[in-house]
This record gives sequence, structure tokens and C-alpha cells, in this order.
Amino acid sequence: MKLLTKIIPLQELLNQHRGQNLTIGFVPTMGALHEGHLSLVKQAAKENDIVVVSIFVNPTQFNDPGDLKRYPRTLEKDMELLSGLKCDYIFNPEVEEIYPEPDTRKFNFGLLETVMEGRFRPGHFNGVAQVVSKLFDIVMPDSAYFGLKDFQQLAVIKEMVAQSGYKIKIVPCEIVREPDGLAMSSRNALLKPEFREAAPIIRQKLLSAKELKDKLTIEELKKWVVNEIESKSDLKVEYFEIVDDTQLQPVILWEEPVVKVGCIAVYAGEIRLIDNIIF
Ligand code: PAJ
Repeated sequence: MKLLTKIIPLQELLNQHRGQNLTIGFVPTMGALHEGHLSLVKQAAKENDIVVVSIFVNPTQFNDPGDLKRYPRTLEKDMELLSGLKCDYIFNPEVEEIYPEPDTRKFNFGLLETVMEGRFRPGHFNGVAQVVSKLFDIVMPDSAYFGLKDFQQLAVIKEMVAQSGYKIKIVPCEIVREPDGLAMSSRNALLKPEFREAAPIIRQKLLSAKELKDKLTIEELKKWVVNEIESKSDLKVEYFEIVDDTQLQPVILWEEPVVKVGCIAVYAGEIRLIDNIIF
């Protein structure tokens, strides 16, 4: 496993591998790695000859400066975790390496960015697309691995790939959870004990919602989930939407012939958590 901080040496090594007809799997991350990230790396290792993991806290996707400042940075521990897996290269650039000058590109993801994360975190997906496209240009992988925990991010990345004509296979990976059901997240480490204790209620209520879906309308179920979480904990629900799985537009009736996904964002104090469930 080799740690690289500069683009050119990484590209030289990857070009050699491509010359040997080896396939490259890529896992972009912002570090503070946990089992969720590691499951992506394992999947990449199963399906490729060479695995590249990037660790880069991308400033352009943070719409909240406090969130960027708080974001955990644990490179030593991340390297230790990755050394136990098949990971050939860690790419950990400085901000100037990725953004020698400000990235002024504006992507247009249409309806995809008007809802949920797009609505509540203006500019977030533009920043994600900026960094992921730059990383794709650098690594030029055959396949790239993304978690279903960030359901909308995955949809945006697929759209970006379709728009830009990248020949990269985007591989969705299942959500990895703590034993109590809380979706693993680098931000979980920032939760105060009382919020960490309360947080599993998010998953519990999403599971209950799935069971209740034949008894309530979509509107009623949405209210039920918000009310259950907020009345039984100190968590604040920012949104809970039931949307179709491709355009991520709100579904009004259960009868609509689309796959439905319940997506939620919740504030646990200052820390924002997201999760989702397929109905
Ligand atoms: P980050 O939050 O570090 O997540 C990196 C990848 O790990 C994403 O694809 C995310 O969906 C996945 N992931 C996180 N928690 C997971 C879990 N519990 N189960 C399964 N997969 C999980 O997402 C980002 O970074 C950034 O936006 C990035 C794509 C790297 C661009 O900066």
C-alpha cells in the first residue's frame, strides 16, 4: 500500500498498470474511515486488480463552514484500517493539488438537485460533482464504488457520468450499520453521548414505517415518521420524503409504479445524519 499526495506520480503508476491490462477500482472518500467505507474497498478489491482509495475532505461540497471545520481527520488510523485490506494506493492530496485555482464549473442536475439534500444543502452536489469529476480524471478507473447511504449522491454521480460520457462503471454498495441499526457515518463520532443513544430511533422508525405502509397514505406516513422521531427523542427531522428511486421526486400515491425510497435527514444537536429505506 502506497500513500501519494501528488497527481503526477499517482498517474504514472496507474498508467503502468493500465499498460499491463490491469483493471482499476476506485473508492472516493473523505476519510475518518469506518466499516461502511471498508465494505466499498472490499467490493472494489473483489472486482479489480488494483484498488485506489482517495481521502480528501473536499471544501467545495460543504455549505456549512462549521461542518467543514468539525469534519474528523484521522489519516493515521485510516491507513491502519486500509493496511488490513487489499488497497494498493491511497491518494491524499492537499486542497491546492486538487484546486490550484477555484473551480467555477456549474453542473446542472435538473430535478435531482432541487429536492432533499439538494434543497437543504445548496451547492453541495455541485461541489461533489466538481471533486468526483476531478478525481475521475486523475484516476481514470474502470469502476467506482459509492454507498447507498448517500442515495441522492449516487443518483447525482450516475447523472454526472451520463452527462460527461465517462466510461466508468458506477457500483452501488449496501448500507453498513452499527449493531443498533444506526447507519455508519464519519459524523457519528461527533455525536454527544445522549444523541448517540437516541440516534438508532431513526432506523427503527424507518423500519416501522415500512410495516405501516399498507395502513397509511404516503402523506400520513410521512407525518407519522417525523412525529414519532421528534416526540420520542431530542432529534429534529429536517426532512422525510418518499421519492422514486431514479429522479428522486416525491411520490404521492403508493399505487404509482415506481420503486419508492424513504429518505431522511435528522439533526442530532449540531450533527446532521441521513439514512434511507427502500419501501
Ligand atoms: P464519505 O462521506 O467519506 O463517503 C465515502 C463513500 O462511502 C460514499 O460513497 C458513501 O456513500 C460511502 N458510505 C458512507 N457511509 C456508508 C455506510 N454506512 N455504508 C455504506 N457506504 C457508506 O461521500 C463522500 O465521502 C463524498 O461526498 C465524496 C463522494 C468522497 C466526494 O467528496
